[in-house]
Amino acid sequence: MFADLPVPAEDKILGIARQFRADPRANKMNLSVGVYADTHGETIILDTVKEAETRLLTRQTTKTYVGLAGDMDFNQAMKEIVFGAENADNDLIQGVQAPGGSGSLRLIAELIGRNRPNSRLWFSTPTWPNHEALVGVGELSINYYPYFDATHNAVDFEGMKAALQQLGPDDVVVLHGCCHNPTGVNLTQAQWDEVITIAQQTGFFPFVDLAYQGFGDDLDTDAYSTRKLAASVAEMAVAASCSKNFGIYRERVGCALVKAQTAEHAQVAFKQLQKIGRGLYSMPPDHGAAVVSIIWHDAELRQQWFAELSAITERILTLRQSLAQQLHAKLGHGRFDFLAEHRGMFSLTGLSSEQVNQLRDQHAIYMVGDGRMNIAGLQETRISELADAIAAVVG
Ligand SMILES: Cc1ncc(COP(=O)(O)O)c(C=O)c1O
Repeated sequence: MFADLPVPAEDKILGIARQFRADPRANKMNLSVGVYADTHGETIILDTVKEAETRLLTRQTTKTYVGLAGDMDFNQAMKEIVFGAENADNDLIQGVQAPGGSGSLRLIAELIGRNRPNSRLWFSTPTWPNHEALVGVGELSINYYPYFDATHNAVDFEGMKAALQQLGPDDVVVLHGCCHNPTGVNLTQAQWDEVITIAQQTGFFPFVDLAYQGFGDDLDTDAYSTRKLAASVAEMAVAASCSKNFGIYRERVGCALVKAQTAEHAQVAFKQLQKIGRGLYSMPPDHGAAVVSIIWHDAELRQQWFAELSAITERILTLRQSLAQQLHAKLGHGRFDFLAEHRGMFSLTGLSSEQVNQLRDQHAIYMVGDGRMNIAGLQETRISELADAIAAVVG
């Protein structure tokens, strides 16, 4: 069985994390993996999460299975977080708890692949490297639409629109709802409106990956595209993650949400998602979803979570501004000014893989080979050091 198994290629980003751990240099800096770190460089547990866990510990009386759809109070919470209070009772929308945003992506992809095997999948150029593996199920063909204009560090909006206008009802378009990974470049609300009009005209199926809601501007602004789509198109799906905005990465919490044309259709999709999950992992994990549910359904904890999340978001924005300013000052030009305009954890810096290697070898600074930097992994006290190193490698 195992004798002729080929050794798999190491995951690009996780491979860098392994290299980082093995690096003995005391001044090393990890800006590769997509995890938020505080001013001390630690990925701490939110106070609201700790409080919810304490309550859960005393309240929980059983560890029996929760059910195929997971915790329905959690699914309701996610419906409200993602689609807003205005959709709290909308029976066209149904959600199924899943293991992380990744598990949610997979559930929805399986639903599409099994029901419409001839669909064509469309990803942005570039996209999160794991998208193909998670979403490219069965016969679904994999295609790419233009997204990033590296010359201007902006969205190639004309290219994107031209590609989307060619699509039809057999096409499934994976859209980063906010905080595009890896580029950090996002559509404006006016541009989203145009994309949504194209979705209405062509009938393509919008499949929103919402992994960073609240990490860009705030929970509502970051959900603009998702909520506008829900109000405008007959059918769509959203893979939502709680890894980042609740900081519960390892608990594996997400929700696969569908918006259907009728309540009956939504119910059938809800049941199908559960059946698919049954065949993949049988039952979703409970702990993290219970934590999210406790926070969301307690008015005080919910407010505290809003405050904790917005402190994180504001800090990321400040880190972005400081780094852009320091680079501007050290280089004497605005090549990296765009860092302050980007949103979310990441920015594609435009550094070449050679420059990324120089940063690692000469300065112990780790980024992804394509030049993606995790701004949310940066410490205030080390911005100047990072700016010096970047200035040194770009010359
Ligand atoms: C674009 C994107 N989608 C989905 C995910 C999935 O997140 P998780 O499965 O950890 O919830 C990630 C995580 O890095 C991501 O970057």
